[in-house]
Amino acid sequence: MRNESVLVVDDAPDIRSGMAHILQQEGFFVDTASDGQEAIDKLDQRFFDIVLTDLAMPRKDGMEVLKFVTENSPESICIIITGFGTIKGAVEAMRQGAFDYLTKPVKTEEVLIIIEKALEVRQLRRENKTLKQELQSRYGFERIVGSSESMQRVFRLIERVANTDSTVLITGESGTGKELIAHAIHYSSDRRDGPFVPVNCAAIPEELLESELFGHEKGAFTHAIRTRIGRFELANKGTIFLDEIGEMSPSLQVKLLRVLQERKFERVGGVKTIQVDIRILAATNIDLEQAVKEGRFREDLFYRLNVIPINVPPLRERRSDIPLLIAHFMKKFTRNQKSAVRGIENDAMECLLNYEWPGNVRELENIIERMVILANGPKITVKDLPERILESASNLGIHRVQSHIPSLPEDGFSLSSAVQEFEKALIIQALDRTGWVKNRAAKLLKMNRTTLIEKMKKQKLMVPKAKAAGAKKAEKRPKKESVAVS
Ligand SMILES: Nc1ncnc2c1ncn2[C@@H]1O[C@H](COP(=O)(O)OP(=O)(O)OP(=O)(O)O)[C@@H](O)[C@H]1O
Ligand SMILES: [Mg+2]
Repeated sequence: MRNESVLVVDDAPDIRSGMAHILQQEGFFVDTASDGQEAIDKLDQRFFDIVLTDLAMPRKDGMEVLKFVTENSPESICIIITGFGTIKGAVEAMRQGAFDYLTKPVKTEEVLIIIEKALEVRQLRRENKTLKQELQSRYGFERIVGSSESMQRVFRLIERVANTDSTVLITGESGTGKELIAHAIHYSSDRRDGPFVPVNCAAIPEELLESELFGHEKGAFTHAIRTRIGRFELANKGTIFLDEIGEMSPSLQVKLLRVLQERKFERVGGVKTIQVDIRILAATNIDLEQAVKEGRFREDLFYRLNVIPINVPPLRERRSDIPLLIAHFMKKFTRNQKSAVRGIENDAMECLLNYEWPGNVRELENIIERMVILANGPKITVKDLPERILESASNLGIHRVQSHIPSLPEDGFSLSSAVQEFEKALIIQALDRTGWVKNRAAKLLKMNRTTLIEKMKKQKLMVPKAKAAGAKKAEKRPKKESVAVS
């Protein structure tokens, strides 16, 4: 028994029953209909994987059955059975979405082969669709993390421009997420089912870049043993992403300008002009306007590329994204590495939040990955941080102070008593350091004396007997404060 179902539609009873018999023997679930209307009624009731239908029938014909299937049950496959005189009709039916046609008299093996082929094609289509959805979620918007106002602005811009064919120039420091944004634009656009073709203009040697982009004809140069199509042709109906565009040589800049203006070019060594339907995205981490001023980049090309500029701010200018990015990468790497690491201690987090991130998100991602792999305990601690982050934290004096902050236990604790403890410990330190002279201790704690005395009362802090005498002498106590706490 098989899982698939077939509906056989023919007004000739012998063909109908003959076909049904063959298919039942093969294990299909089979139902029949003697005209188009009956077929439509049955299709309205339940799903059939395959609809085998005659064309010429009373009430409603095969074309109407096909129309019903394509509109209401697009996952069903329609195969036409046609008499010799109606082949033209069958061809038309294929144009309208029928999978294939069979001519009468139909041979048993022919029906079975065509059904197998149809099911196979449908399976491939389904797989293709899931792959595309996967790609979309892998490269779509959801992958870009950012709640800062500046990233939200970038997201709004992507949304607005995605469905246009406008050229976009993505600028920003290295590792800020330019390529991620290019992916998101493509996979949010109408071209998402077409190819996304990235070209790193800096990674390909200048003499090869031209043929990489435009392709070449056989014999165009010594090693051109066969004709090869370039990235612009590969990107037809999709998007080409010209990364590190600032590195392109002047002669290629001229050729690129023509593609931008006309979407036309010739392969290297070729004479035929090739027209493509592409969307162009470009990215750079150099200041192109400066490069124009210095004569390294063509001004006309710059304006052609800079139709929609998207600037991705460096991480140090959107610090509020850091905790989110850390959480994002922690999740990513703890899942991948099946690691025991579950979190980051407060003081380590503090260091990460205050670091300057010259390598931007890429640097952050790499550091989290490394720490997840190398961490010794369930939580990442200051000891797991790379040297450069620790150095910068100690320059800022962060780690010294923050390391006194206890980490929040799994089942939590009372914040107010923790704060009181912290306060008490610091007041005692200040008093100890000043020989319990409240004036001086208050100065050290940057508060006025009255407040300190109130706090001492609240904390039930007594001046130790040994200190009391010396402290009294040193204090120039105003009268109203004569209510000693000790
Ligand atoms: N906002 C973000 N959310 C999640 N991941 C990000 C984000 N920005 C960047 N990344 C990740 O950081 C890494 C670097 O990003 P990407 O390659 O897009 O940067 P880039 O700007 O193209 O860098 P370069 O100029 O060096 O080519 C990638 O692994 C990317 O997935
Ligand atoms: Mg990049």
